[in-house]
Amino acid sequence: MVLAASSLAPGALLVALSRFATASEAKLLLPFVATTADIPALAELSLGAFGEEALSAATFRQRIFRGNALAFGLRHREGIVAYLLLYLHRRTLRAYIHEALVVAPWRGRRLSACLLAAAEGVASAVGMATLSAHVRASNTPSLQGKLRLGMVIVGRPPAWYTDREDAFYLRQRL
Ligand SMILES: CC(C)(COP(=O)(O)OP(=O)(O)OC[C@H]1O[C@@H](n2cnc3c(N)ncnc32)[C@H](O)[C@@H]1OP(=O)(O)O)[C@@H](O)C(=O)NCCC(=O)NCCS
Repeated sequence: MVLAASSLAPGALLVALSRFATASEAKLLLPFVATTADIPALAELSLGAFGEEALSAATFRQRIFRGNALAFGLRHREGIVAYLLLYLHRRTLRAYIHEALVVAPWRGRRLSACLLAAAEGVASAVGMATLSAHVRASNTPSLQGKLRLGMVIVGRPPAWYTDREDAFYLRQRL
C-alpha cells in the first residue's frame, strides 16, 4: 500500500502544483518521495520548525522504512522546500498527516495546499477511508489549509502538545 502510494505521490504533486502554484513557481519545483538520502535534511527541517516535538532522523527512517508511512514533497535547486509525512494504516484504513512543513521563504504561496491535495489524492487512491490530522490551536495557516481542503474539526484534545497547548483534531472522509 505504501509502495503504491509512493509511486502515485509525484504525479499527484504535479497535478496539485498546476492547480495551486503559479506556472513560474511550478517550473522551479520538483516533486520527490523521500529516500534514505533525504532523511538528514528532513530531520533538520523538522527540528528547526518543531523543536522538542520534531521527528529525529531515526524516527523518520523507522516510520518510512517500516512501511506504514511515506514522506513526499517539493524540491528546489537549493534543497527541500516543502514536505509532508503521511501515515497509511492498512488495518483501520485511516490516513494521518503527521507533519507538514513549508520552509519560511516559500510560505504563503499555496505549497501546503499542494502537499495536502497530494496527500488526499494518494490516500484516496490506495483505498483509505479517512484522512485526519492534529493542528495546534494557534496555528492559523495550518488550520486554514486543512479546512480549505475539506477537513472538519471533530475534536479539541486539551493540552495535546508538550507545552500543553490544545490541538484541533480534523478529519475528512475520502
Ligand atoms: C502551516 C504551513 C505548512 C502553511 O504553508 P503555506 O504553504 O505557507 O500555506 P498556504 O500558502 O497553502 O496557506 C494556507 C492557508 O493559510 C492562510 N495563511 C497563510 N499564512 C497565514 C497567516 N500568517 N495567518 C493567517 N492565515 C494564513 C492562507 O491564506 C491559506 O488559507 P486560504 O487557503 O484560505 O487562502 C507553513 O506555514 C509551515 O510550514 N509552518 C511551520 C510548520 C507547521 O506549522 N506545520 C503544520 C503543522 S504539522
